[in-house]
Amino acid sequence: MGIFSIFPDRASTTAGEVDALYAFLLVVGIVMTIVIFFFVAFFAFKYRRKDPYYRPKAIHGSLPLEIVWSVIPFLVMLVMFAWGTKLYFQNYTPPRKDTLDIYVVGKQWMWKVQYPDGQREIDELHVPTGRAVKLTLASEDVLHSFYIPAFRLKHDVVPGSYETYWFEATKPGRYHIFCAEYCGTNHSEMKGWVTVMSPNDYQDWLRNGAPEESMAAQGQKLFDHYGCVTCHVTDQQGRAPSLTNVFGHLVQLEDGRTVIADEAFLRESILNPSANAVKGYQANIMPVFQGQINEEGLLKLIVYIKSLSGPNAAPEAPRLNPDGSVPPAKLVQKQ
Ligand code: CUA
Repeated sequence: MGIFSIFPDRASTTAGEVDALYAFLLVVGIVMTIVIFFFVAFFAFKYRRKDPYYRPKAIHGSLPLEIVWSVIPFLVMLVMFAWGTKLYFQNYTPPRKDTLDIYVVGKQWMWKVQYPDGQREIDELHVPTGRAVKLTLASEDVLHSFYIPAFRLKHDVVPGSYETYWFEATKPGRYHIFCAEYCGTNHSEMKGWVTVMSPNDYQDWLRNGAPEESMAAQGQKLFDHYGCVTCHVTDQQGRAPSLTNVFGHLVQLEDGRTVIADEAFLRESILNPSANAVKGYQANIMPVFQGQINEEGLLKLIVYIKSLSGPNAAPEAPRLNPDGSVPPAKLVQKQ
């Protein structure tokens, strides 16, 4: 693979479709340009002034013509809209189950990658082929954008929230990672490599980089370090809700809302507890961790809290009871 190529490799399941849509837009654009320029030139020639005394007849429009040149472009645009929307939702909605979760923090000017098993890398990402990989993206400082041209995927990394990015790599190799949003002096240096490996090679790679501790174990240490454990007593009545089987489940809040405890909910609850007071608990007794903990630490805590739920506790859309009411939250204060 060269340093530069007009068309990067196609190395993900969606790359082909993105290229097809791109080709469609390009062909429509080129054909329309040719047709329009042809008629501009043709009519300019046909209706040129042949005789200084000739006065053409005035024309007052044509309804059929108006309809034809409105409806045809409209239908072509609808195809673009429908196709683009389908691809957009397909590419930006990660599968709910069985994803390989990897955590990426953008920081001026590097990408820090953490794996659930505890491996860490900077400006390098290793993934297997044939497996849906879900990246949770966070920014430590300013707006960045995570871009892997070979996967035809790009996603802004917004400070203060989690963004998700998913792909399934198809072709082993090494491909560029870029930052695609101007983020300061060394924006152009904020790049790296994604290495796509066969599942077997990937297992070997994971084993060889054997880390001391999984992300969840590191998160548990932080959980103890910050004293979370004194109130969030596991499986018992503490001053704060137990965190067992919280991730991926519905939570009832003091203000009447019922929300899913996903990564974003946990993040906000740690940084600013009063925003998400859980029904039956006082949120104001919990310290505010905004500014106390960095994004990497937060991700470790969240992976730890995730590990307290069943292995299949992926966030799901809330399901209402048949009568339209909200089912009881899993996280309720025990009597
Ligand atoms: Cu980060 Cu540009």
